[in-house]
Amino acid sequence: MCGIVGYVGPRQASDVLLGGLARLEYRGYDSAGVAIASGGELKVMRRVGKLVNLTQAIGKTPVPGFVGIGHTRWATHGRPSEENAHPHADCTGRIAVVHNGIIENYMELREELAQNGHILRSETDTETVAHLVESYYDGDLALAVRKAIKRLHGAYALGVIHLDEPETIVAARKDSPLIIGLGKGENIVASDIPAVLEYTREVLALADDQVATVSAGQVIVTDLEGAPVESEMLHIEWDLAAAEKGGFADFMLKEIYEQPKAIRETLRGRMGADGIIQLSELEMTPGQIASIDRVFILACGTSYHAGVVAKTLIETWARIPVEVQVSSEFRYGDPIVDDETLVVAITQSGETADTLAGVREARNRGAKVIAITNVVGSRVTRESDGVIYTHAGPEIGVAATKTFTAQIAALNVLALKLAQAKGILGQERIAALWADLNRIPDIVEAILADLDAIEECAAAYTDVYSTLFLGRGVGWAVAMEGALKLKEISYIHAEAFAAGEMKHGPIALISDEVPVVVVATQGHTYEKVVSNIQEVRARGAEVIVVATHGDDEIKRHAEHVLYVPATSELLSAIPATIPLQVLSYRIAKFRGCNVDQPRSLAKSVTVE
Ligand code: M6R
Repeated sequence: MCGIVGYVGPRQASDVLLGGLARLEYRGYDSAGVAIASGGELKVMRRVGKLVNLTQAIGKTPVPGFVGIGHTRWATHGRPSEENAHPHADCTGRIAVVHNGIIENYMELREELAQNGHILRSETDTETVAHLVESYYDGDLALAVRKAIKRLHGAYALGVIHLDEPETIVAARKDSPLIIGLGKGENIVASDIPAVLEYTREVLALADDQVATVSAGQVIVTDLEGAPVESEMLHIEWDLAAAEKGGFADFMLKEIYEQPKAIRETLRGRMGADGIIQLSELEMTPGQIASIDRVFILACGTSYHAGVVAKTLIETWARIPVEVQVSSEFRYGDPIVDDETLVVAITQSGETADTLAGVREARNRGAKVIAITNVVGSRVTRESDGVIYTHAGPEIGVAATKTFTAQIAALNVLALKLAQAKGILGQERIAALWADLNRIPDIVEAILADLDAIEECAAAYTDVYSTLFLGRGVGWAVAMEGALKLKEISYIHAEAFAAGEMKHGPIALISDEVPVVVVATQGHTYEKVVSNIQEVRARGAEVIVVATHGDDEIKRHAEHVLYVPATSELLSAIPATIPLQVLSYRIAKFRGCNVDQPRSLAKSVTVE
């Protein structure tokens, strides 16, 4: 989720690059760098940490020049370090590359390049591109880039410069955004619109498999064969302040809308051509996986709810008993874990103190610990035996949204891996589940495209004091997450219960002043959930239901129905969560709350 800026024109490139990168810093912030064609040399300057470190370095040692590329990094391959920071150069130091995305076949390319005598200096996938361009360059940079990208598998947005063509940037993309801001006598390449808005509102949006040759006076776009093609032209209406949130009112809303991409990125590359789920991060042989006799999941808050979903997935598909515990209880308990227990620590930030303490405790007891996190280089990655990354990109809103659904996606992969290694699910079943799982991003997109019912519902419950959330199975985990979202951003009291538990106490809370949100998507307990709805309605409560498209009957039992497309029961957690995120968001906004920075909360809870 890195930020890319490239500049060619009459201004000092370093000013435009640093200004643009500052507007993209939300995309990545563990290191930054620029490469500028300066006095017949290619000057590369990179610094670890926030952009300010690079800005200060350039302040002390200016890099004059009118053509350059810059980057802020959100590490995926290789820890945050100066060597791994972009831009990356080729062996000659005359070519520099910035990249956003993941080159999936980079190991293979690295080997080939090394065999051909190239010296690779970083751990990144990106550096392979610089060397590939070097090996194909024969006096035409755009041609060399086209040849190089034909060798790449995966996603990329690229900016490339070469000292032999010092007035040009070559830009290309596939599955990662890249635009070109069209100025008067200057052009700016960027991974997002905020970086160009200071100079122009006229933007060319590169499409997949298009390559642009960008100079100060013109932009030539071709396909991969070099034939000229047309690109979409956009006139941007946003002002700069809004644009930093990509045109969304808040980071939370932006992140809600980023979920299809976050889920896709998290699933990307996890199914091998041989039908085997790829999870080398477990660092276990199939035999070792087969011997796991217990899974223990540790997490806090929203991550704990992802763990509750995972319990059902793993127990159903892999038939391994799973215990899920909040980390603060685990660390001070006397948990029964040993060297045959797989402990899974879920933490989007990777810095949650209770979860880190639980990880240490589990490892002291001999368990193998796998972390699921969104932040490369975070503490949990250093303290665990293996790490599975969710590729959700930086999440800035304090309320977890896209990291939650990406965690569930990653946990689906883990559950399928365990089921496959244990031989519990056959190849056909795994393939069918994998296909269903890969449809989830489109389903989320469809839900987000039609929010009218949620809007209407939110307006009706803006002033309530207290709410209950009910569900069964994975629907119970969704109910817990729905209640947490509502309470943390709107400050409305919200409590979740397993629907079957209601009659053991919580039902005493039901009245016409306490709306009840019920997760009632199709599944084997659907009839039971409908009975629970009738019980609360009989006591005067208004009911909001999350239900499956086509369930018209449910309208008779609810004041508001928030429909989601049909999925199999076990895959329903992500779709059912989306309306509840949006409902909380809308209610909080109606109440005038700051959804990105709710009171008393922090994005990383690094203290007990
Ligand atoms: O970074 P983590 O996933 O470990 O964070 C755990 C909780 O602090 C976090 O989920 C918190 O509950 C969020 N504010 C939920 O939106």
